[in-house]
Amino acid sequence: MKGIILAGGLGSRLRPLTKVTNKHLLPIYDKPMIYYPIQTLVEAGIQDLLIVTGGRNSGDFLRLLANGKEFGLKHINYTYQEGEGGIAEALALAEHFSDGDQICVILGDNIIEGSIASAVADFKKQQRGAKILLKEVHDAERFGVAEIVGSKIVGIEEKPVKPKSKYAVTGIYMYDGSVFDKTRTLKPSARGELEITDVNNAYIREGTMTFNYLDGWWTDAGTFESLLRAANLVEETQKLRSPAMAAAAGRDCE
Ligand code: G1P
Repeated sequence: MKGIILAGGLGSRLRPLTKVTNKHLLPIYDKPMIYYPIQTLVEAGIQDLLIVTGGRNSGDFLRLLANGKEFGLKHINYTYQEGEGGIAEALALAEHFSDGDQICVILGDNIIEGSIASAVADFKKQQRGAKILLKEVHDAERFGVAEIVGSKIVGIEEKPVKPKSKYAVTGIYMYDGSVFDKTRTLKPSARGELEITDVNNAYIREGTMTFNYLDGWWTDAGTFESLLRAANLVEETQKLRSPAMAAAAGRDCE
């Protein structure tokens, strides 16, 4: 499976932080934001990566990441998104790289505590279609929201005023090679973007969409509140994972 990290856009909700740099280069605790989604994919065994970036700072990604040695990679692929046409438009730029293979797409501002390895393993066994990862949240109206009936996902609404469930669609998506036929049929939404939710609903209509629930915390980092929350969550998790703290936490439990 190939991995695609979407790191374009203008980051307008974070101005003036994003006036002179790309959102995905901003710090989340002790690392640039883009490090986290790369780590998520690499940890799940996905090593063939494409970064879709854009704007005036695209060259900075190459300077920062080079060939991905810090992640144990030998090579990273890069491509450039002109303008800000939405997640699905950015994804469409990955068609040549994907070359018909299964892909795992992650939004460059999505940071998770746990692992997607088991979901990736499940999707590898899936003959066709797509898989999304859902997370229960208290502010579902900020996200794409899944409607679930029994064990089936029957639809996704993008930022609904009255969410039909508490389950947000996280920015981690797995697709078969037909995703690019689907992106070609999209029309811009009210916010003038090609929406990833429309791609996912096309798979739901086709009856080939599956989902897993994501373990551990999940956050995006595209607003001041979520950027701060992401940094705090990463800090807490790193401290808990440090050997001294883990030992102390163990003693507290005894
Ligand atoms: C995007 C998607 C949304 C998803 C979210 C996850 O929202 O459109 O469905 O739940 O990412 O981070 P955006 O960040 O573009 O508002």
